[in-house]
Amino acid sequence: MSKTAPTPPAPADPMSDLALPDKGQPAVAIHLMDKAGFEAWAATLTPAQRAAAAAQKFKGAANTHAIIPDGDSWQVAAGVADAGKLGPWCLARLGENLPAGTYRIAGDTKIAPALLGWCLGQYRFDRYRSEDPSEPPRILLTREVKALPAVLGEAAAVALVRDLVNTPAEDMGPAELEHEVEMLARRHKATTHITRGEALEREYPMVHAVGRAASRQHAPRMIELEWGDPAHPRIAIVGKGVTFDSGGLDLKPSSGMLLMKKDMGGAAHAIALAKLVMEAGLKVRLHLLVPAAENAVAGNAFRPGDVLRSRAEISVEIGNTDAEGRLLLGDALTRAGESAPTLILDFATLTGAARVALGPDLPGLMARRDDTAQGLLDAGIAAGDPVWRLPLHDGYREYLKSDIADINNSASNGYAGASVAGLFLDRFVGEGLDWAHFDTFAWAPSPKPGRPKGGEALGLRAAWGFLKARYGA
Ligand code: BES
Ligand code: ZN
Ligand code: ZN
Repeated sequence: MSKTAPTPPAPADPMSDLALPDKGQPAVAIHLMDKAGFEAWAATLTPAQRAAAAAQKFKGAANTHAIIPDGDSWQVAAGVADAGKLGPWCLARLGENLPAGTYRIAGDTKIAPALLGWCLGQYRFDRYRSEDPSEPPRILLTREVKALPAVLGEAAAVALVRDLVNTPAEDMGPAELEHEVEMLARRHKATTHITRGEALEREYPMVHAVGRAASRQHAPRMIELEWGDPAHPRIAIVGKGVTFDSGGLDLKPSSGMLLMKKDMGGAAHAIALAKLVMEAGLKVRLHLLVPAAENAVAGNAFRPGDVLRSRAEISVEIGNTDAEGRLLLGDALTRAGESAPTLILDFATLTGAARVALGPDLPGLMARRDDTAQGLLDAGIAAGDPVWRLPLHDGYREYLKSDIADINNSASNGYAGASVAGLFLDRFVGEGLDWAHFDTFAWAPSPKPGRPKGGEALGLRAAWGFLKARYGA
């Protein structure tokens, strides 16, 4: 089932028209300032302009703006938290709210990092709306032309995560994840390998067990992509692709199940990160692994108390069918380790405990090596995509002891759920390998500038910043 695909047509990128090189096109000026700079700016205005700013209650506060008349035309005044240091989201409200048109920032402020929010503020998920929702774009011109492709690429990667996560499980099953990876492979001349059916049962028994109760249309599979020069350092990126998590026979209550279309959020992050790696031509040999399955309920579902064989030949007693993500990932991580990569990164909406500990904004990061963890933490801060480290504390391994098998997939006490899940995964990662695990929420429960409620990339840009720093762009 291995294949090298023919070259495809270039895909339409939804973000690429929102920030363009400034070639002197006609554009509305945006005056950026912080609260401290407001008075100095106001002093340059005519009385009528000052009155317009006052009527709109504009005082330079972050994420506020005003339309200022200017002869026959108009300008924009916009507040940011710190005019000397623009973060990724400081232009997001403008991108969201200004009238359609073309804009440029007055003066010579460096805005490259803030283009991300400008673009992502215009993200909409309208696949299921019946009226034509297409809005004309707000285009921002920039003279920082060199920075454009990287920023637009990141915006597109985030938009991809959002689209994949927002799409309902019926339309984003294992087959659709496979299709997504196939399209990416074609675009970048990568090879793919899909394992399904009896081969899946033989080679990835835990992926098969989790997914076997789903309908044929949503049959489980292991999706792999390989790309790049085999002589370059090998990296593996793994993502939990549970396309719907009902909990299995340990059924979730309806409140807990409602959002579980997002349980393939880890896969979405992994696919988007692989896209960034390939687009940038990073000097690595990339191995993307997406174990994809729907955790469904049927007569053939795996059961509490069952003992599964794993790819690593570790026997796993099922304490809870709702702890399914670690089963899929266990087999995928084993496979990833077999090729002796220099680094394994995995992304997963793995535990409710990570959300309890850190809330929805901060992914939990667990890593074997301190330097890798620190690199990821630093890259997260630099990118405005912070992640928070949680321990892989050896003393908690005993929580996963099984009475009859090598390991249990769930602890009976409720302690340190995210770390215990991380320790479960650790058993399946080849010894001595450099491995880091992101327990991400992949969802914004309430909107923030540039980040509408819904699917969200959390930890993606941190990981990308780290890969660029370690392997060079
Ligand atoms: N997909 C869930 C984790 C999850 C729940 C992430 C809610 C984000 C929000 C995962 O498969 C799960 O159900 N984990 C259980 C594990 C438990 C049974 C050991 C959990 O966290 O409750
Ligand atoms: Zn679950
Ligand atoms: Zn899950």
